Amino acid sequence: MATIEMKKESAISSDFANDTVKGLEASPKRLFSKYFYDKKGDKLFQDIMAMPEYYLTNCEFEIFETQKAEILEFARHSDFDLIELGAGDGTKTKVLLEYLVSQDADFQYLPIDISQNALDGLEADLNLTMPQVKVEPQQGDYFGVLKSLKNIGSRRKMVLFLGSNIGNFTKPEAELFLKEMTNSLSPGDMVLIGSDLKKDPSIIQIAYDDPAGITAAFNLNLLERMNRELGANFDLNEFKHWETYNPTTGETKSHIISKKAQTVHFDCLERSFDFGAWEAIWVELSQKYNLQELEDLADKSGFEVVQHFMDKKNYFCDTLWRVKSV
Ligand code: AVI
Repeated sequence: MATIEMKKESAISSDFANDTVKGLEASPKRLFSKYFYDKKGDKLFQDIMAMPEYYLTNCEFEIFETQKAEILEFARHSDFDLIELGAGDGTKTKVLLEYLVSQDADFQYLPIDISQNALDGLEADLNLTMPQVKVEPQQGDYFGVLKSLKNIGSRRKMVLFLGSNIGNFTKPEAELFLKEMTNSLSPGDMVLIGSDLKKDPSIIQIAYDDPAGITAAFNLNLLERMNRELGANFDLNEFKHWETYNPTTGETKSHIISKKAQTVHFDCLERSFDFGAWEAIWVELSQKYNLQELEDLADKSGFEVVQHFMDKKNYFCDTLWRVKSV
C-alpha cells in the first residue's frame, strides 16, 4: 500500500514539474488549477465553499435537498454504479447518498479525485456515517480515470460531475472530455453535470475575488506548493491574485500577477524563470454557461438532455443527461 501511494505521489510531482516548466516557458505564462489541491489547497477550497460569496455550493445543495427524488428517479428501477468525478469531500453528494440508502437502492459508490487526501477523508467519513454504502475510491486525473470506466462493470452507470468542475475546462476541452465519457459509457447510462450559470457579473466577480482574500490565498498557494515541492523561491508578497469575468464568453479567469520584474529559481529543476513587471500567469478558468450552451454541449458530445434542475434564484444548474442510443 505504502509503495503504491509513493508511486502515485511521485507521478504527480513529476507531472507537476513538467507542467510547471512548460507553463512558465510559454508566452503568455500558464499554470493549471488541478495543482491547487495539495493538503493546504484542499483546506482552502473547503473555506471557499463555506464563504457567503461563493454561492455555488449552497445552490447545488439546495437543488439536491429539494429535487433529489426527481434527479434519482431512475435508481428505483435498476441496480447501478454511482461514479463521482472530482468527489472532493463529498458533502453535497451525501444528500444523494442518504436518499439512495433511504430508498434501499442497490448501488456502489466510486468517488474519484486527484487528491488522495480528500479521498481518504471522504472514505473515513462515509464508513462512519453511512456504513451501508459500498465505497470504492480511486485516485487519478479525470482523463486517466475515464479510460478505466469501461472496466468498472456491466451495471447501469450514473456519473456525477458536480460543483461546476466542468467549468474548469475550456469549452473545447469540455466537449472532448464529454465525448470520451460517452465512449466509456453505454447507451442509457446517465450523467449529472453541475454547472454555474451566467448571471449578474458582480455576483460572479465577488465569488472569485472575496474581500477576506481566501480565493487569493487559494491561488497563491500554487506558488507556495512550487516552493515546497520544487524548491522554488517565490516571494508571495511580490505577486497578487487578479480575477476577470467576461460576460460575453462566460469565462472567469484567475491570474497571478508579478508586481515587479523578478527571477525565481527552482532548486529541484536546476533552472530559473524571469517574470516581467505586471506579467500575468493564467492559473484557472471557471467557465459559466447558459442553458442553451449546456444543451449544445450535450448534443455535440453524444448525450440527450433529460432535465435541468435549478435552484430558486436560477444561479446554478444540475443538468441530467442520458447517453444517446446509436
Ligand atoms: C473546483 N472549481 C469548480 C472551483 C471553481 O469555481 O472554478 C474552484 C474555485 N476557484 C476559485 N474558487 C473556487
